[in-house]
Amino acid sequence: MPRPGPADRVGSLDGLMASREIVVACGPGGVGKTTTAAAAAAMAASRIGGKVLVLTVDPARRLADALGLEGIGNVERRVPDDAFAEAKVKPAGELWAAMLDTKESWDSLIRTHAPDARTRDQILGNPLYRNISGRFVQSHDYIAMERLFEIHSEGDYDLIVVDTPPTRNALDFLDAPERMADFFSSRLLRWLIVPYRSRLVNVASRPFYQVADRILGTQFLEDIAQFFILFQTMYDGFVQRARAVQRLLANHRTSFMVVSTLEAVPLREAEFFAEELTNRRLHLGAVVLNKVLPAYLRDPAATAVAEAMRDRSAELAGALAAHIEGSGEQQLRRVLHEVGQSFVDYRVVAQREAEQRAELQTVPETLVSVPFFDTDVHDFGGLMQLGEWLWGEEPAAVA
Ligand SMILES: Nc1ncnc2c1ncn2[C@@H]1O[C@H](COP(=O)(O)OP(=O)(O)OP(=O)(O)O)[C@@H](O)[C@H]1O
Ligand SMILES: [Mg+2]
Repeated sequence: MPRPGPADRVGSLDGLMASREIVVACGPGGVGKTTTAAAAAAMAASRIGGKVLVLTVDPARRLADALGLEGIGNVERRVPDDAFAEAKVKPAGELWAAMLDTKESWDSLIRTHAPDARTRDQILGNPLYRNISGRFVQSHDYIAMERLFEIHSEGDYDLIVVDTPPTRNALDFLDAPERMADFFSSRLLRWLIVPYRSRLVNVASRPFYQVADRILGTQFLEDIAQFFILFQTMYDGFVQRARAVQRLLANHRTSFMVVSTLEAVPLREAEFFAEELTNRRLHLGAVVLNKVLPAYLRDPAATAVAEAMRDRSAELAGALAAHIEGSGEQQLRRVLHEVGQSFVDYRVVAQREAEQRAELQTVPETLVSVPFFDTDVHDFGGLMQLGEWLWGEEPAAVA
């Protein structure tokens, strides 16, 4: 497995995880947020102790499996100690995991916050609600923050590590509670439901409703209107909780961990995100650079070797042919040339990564690098191994 050299690593997530109640993993899409959040939580449970929860969003199937989450909705589950034992670790505390199920979370939100049983049943039974609650625009972001708020309020965990959904814009989830509250008071919404609120308005006399009625059917329009009218009964609650979530995120017990790779586009997005966190006076606790190429690729002596393999492949193939059974000189020459050239190509990428890293404008309290592993991280052993890098340690057993 390739690994970054010591100079590429600074700090450890240990201190951050030990001192906070909530750590939110965020950053661009596909960089390893879910994996990093799970690995950090596993390490915290294992080394620091206490009751640690990782709240994941859409984990890859095999990772969900490894955490014992397969087929489970919103329920928090304890990751069995056997999982740690397989990775030869005896945890100091407990690791719990939950998956964010958008539909399930909406239902539970309605059950908890509807003003009365009748409204609750009407919303849950509304066909439009049933259809869109899992796909509501922004509902994923919003519900992730709601869930976090709810779980934190219950006070069962010493540390909650939160994974965030892949968003078009990494900041979306921060604004989600506020936006949801705005939405319920929006003019568009009021305009949509007016004809159904007021019996005084003759629906059929308005061309828009006439056309909509013909295309969508009266029942559908009524469902829409009923849905939004019912939802508005919860408006005050939405606003209050949006504020409470904002306060929780800004609280000193909460910190953010920005995950990124060193590729130009994600890194730019991550930097923007880190800057924005600071502008909003949210705490940037760590930047995790994931899937980083190893420092030895940049070693000039190694490059010289690779160049020699490439440029003197014919001569070297002649010398080697006798030592590698069954190899033809022609074939050896091609392999040597190709391997040498690939190394040189990787060096260029590693060099660019090192430059990107050196140009990082954001200086977080903790900066950690994790190497690009040979395989995906999908089992508990892999998580713990990644976790050791997050703790600034080079794993003893290298895959
Ligand atoms: N250091 C690593 N080395 C090799 N593979 C990795 C590493 N980190 C993560 N991966 C793999 O990369 C893939 C994406 O990781 P992950 O799902 O954690 O990303 P994400 O940021 O949560 O993505 P999304 O934005 O879609 O939610 C997974 O298959 C994971 O196993
Ligand atoms: Mg993810």
